Order: sequence, then C-alpha cells, then structure tokens
Amino acid sequence: MPTGSTSSTRSPFTDNESPAVGVELDKLSKSFGDFVVLKDVSFKVEPGEIFVLMGPSGSGKSVLLKHIVGLEAPTSGRVLVDGKDASDPTTREQVRMALVFQAGALFNSLSVYDNLALYLREHRIASESAIREKVERALQILSLENASAKFPSELSGGMKKRVAIARALVMEPQLMLYDEPTSELDPLMSATISEIIATLKDEYHVTSIVVSHDRDLALNISDRVGILMGGQLIHVGPPAELRQPTDPRIADFLNPKVDLKNPRFKKLET
Ligand SMILES: Nc1ncnc2c1ncn2[C@@H]1O[C@H](COP(=O)(O)OP(=O)(O)OP(=O)(O)O)[C@@H](O)[C@H]1O
Ligand SMILES: [Mg+2]
Repeated sequence: MPTGSTSSTRSPFTDNESPAVGVELDKLSKSFGDFVVLKDVSFKVEPGEIFVLMGPSGSGKSVLLKHIVGLEAPTSGRVLVDGKDASDPTTREQVRMALVFQAGALFNSLSVYDNLALYLREHRIASESAIREKVERALQILSLENASAKFPSELSGGMKKRVAIARALVMEPQLMLYDEPTSELDPLMSATISEIIATLKDEYHVTSIVVSHDRDLALNISDRVGILMGGQLIHVGPPAELRQPTDPRIADFLNPKVDLKNPRFKKLET
C-alpha cells in the first residue's frame, strides 16, 4: 500500500472500517499480438483519492481498468492493488473492488433488486434478510427505491448507470472503478452521477478511479487527472491544470475546434 496514508473505508452498510487501498501501475505495457495498446504506463492512486483517467477513444483506458481488476494480465510491468499483484486471483479475494462497466452489464432477465442481490447470493455473504437490507440501502443511496422491481429494459440510461453503481456498492468496495459513468447522459444527469461519485468518496472514503471523457466531471470531482494518448500517459496533475492546458495535444483534446477546411475524420486511423 502506498505510504503516508491513514484513511480507511467505511462501509455504507455497517460500522465496519477497513483500510482504503492504493493502486500502483509500474511500467504497465500491454499488447494484443503485435498491437501495442499500453506503453510503460506508471502512476499511483492514493487511498481515498478520486483519480480521473481521460483520453481519446481507443487510447487504452478500458484495457487499463481491466488490468486493475485482474481481467487482463500485463505483457510487461506490474499493477499493484494494496501492494498486491492485481493479476494474482487471490488479490481479488483479499481486496473488495468493483468495476462499473462502460455499458452497465446488467442482467436483462433479472429485476433491479435481483441484479443487486446476485453477488451477495452467489458468494453466500449474508442471509436473505441481511441481503435485503444491503440492497435496499444501496437503492436508497442512489435514489432508486422505486425501481427495485423493474427490469433493465424498463430503465432509462441514467437509471441503468445508477443501478450499475448501486450493484457495485453492495459489494462494500474498497476500490471503485468506473468506466465512462456519464457517457450517453444529459448534462444534468452527468452532474448527478459526478455528485454520487464524490459523495461515495467523502462518506465512505472509497478509492475511485474514473475513466471518463467528461471534462466537467474531471474538473469538479477529481483529486488528480491522468491523460492517456496512444497508450502512453502524457500528463498527470491536479484538475486546475486542465483549465488552461499548455500541451497542444491536451488543449486540442479538451477544447477541440471544428475545422471544416481540414476535417479530422479524414485523418482517422482505420
Ligand atoms: N481483447 C482485445 N483484443 C485485441 N484488441 C483489443 C482487446 N481489447 C481492446 N483492444 C484494442 O485496444 C485498444 C484500446 O481499447 P480500449 O477499449 O481500452 O479503448 P478506450 O480508450 O477504452 O476507448 P473508448 O473511449 O472508445 O471506450 C483498441 O484499439 C481496441 O480495439
Ligand atoms: Mg473504453
């Protein structure tokens, strides 16, 4: 675990406290065949921090998140969660971490309630009455009390995102990873989701890594922002530095100008 921290994670459901966890990427590189996706990416996320990772589509953000939860293994380099190797399956048993997937990944055949209860039932974590308590608490935190009996097909995009976060929350995570939590949402719902992420950090001291294109989210709730381009981390710093970026690549990414004389789509890689 990174040094110098005394913060702890408080469960939303009990009075239990467990140490908040740090994450460290040490020269992480990942290739699929000859295709290099991540090149020598190194950064540390401190326990209890909100770290927002931004970068263009295809720059490797989702692949990077999958390394932290152990769904991908590095080609070279290391990923440590709470000082333990993330690609070691025992790490996932020792550290409670939850990934809120880009597309929500809800089970369409299950109600919202059963989507939330699934993890607890499968892992036989609690009795059915204790599960009910945890699920109802998570639904309440995300203002989803009235959606409990609904199925995913009956939910709006914003509700699906909140259900995905609620489902992660019942795991009482020490580490929350969000992949594009505000994509496809209107600005108001995006701001709401940003507030939820910040609240979870403040009230439960969860360490949060948020992959997002959402500039407002990054500026408003992050402790630090990393920018990934072409598989390389080209910048890490506090959000204020992004208000007037000096690096032209970052300025162009955050404040793109539509240029009809020299259209970007003609320069896209195929
Ligand atoms: N399992 C895989 N096998 C081969 N290539 C993959 C695999 N997973 C991802 N890639 C490739 O890695 C690159 C990065 O993908 P990734 O999903 O991480 O991008 P991203 O930054 O999350 O993009 P977006 O913002 O569009 O979600 C893409 O070119 C993708 O095609
Ligand atoms: Mg992605």
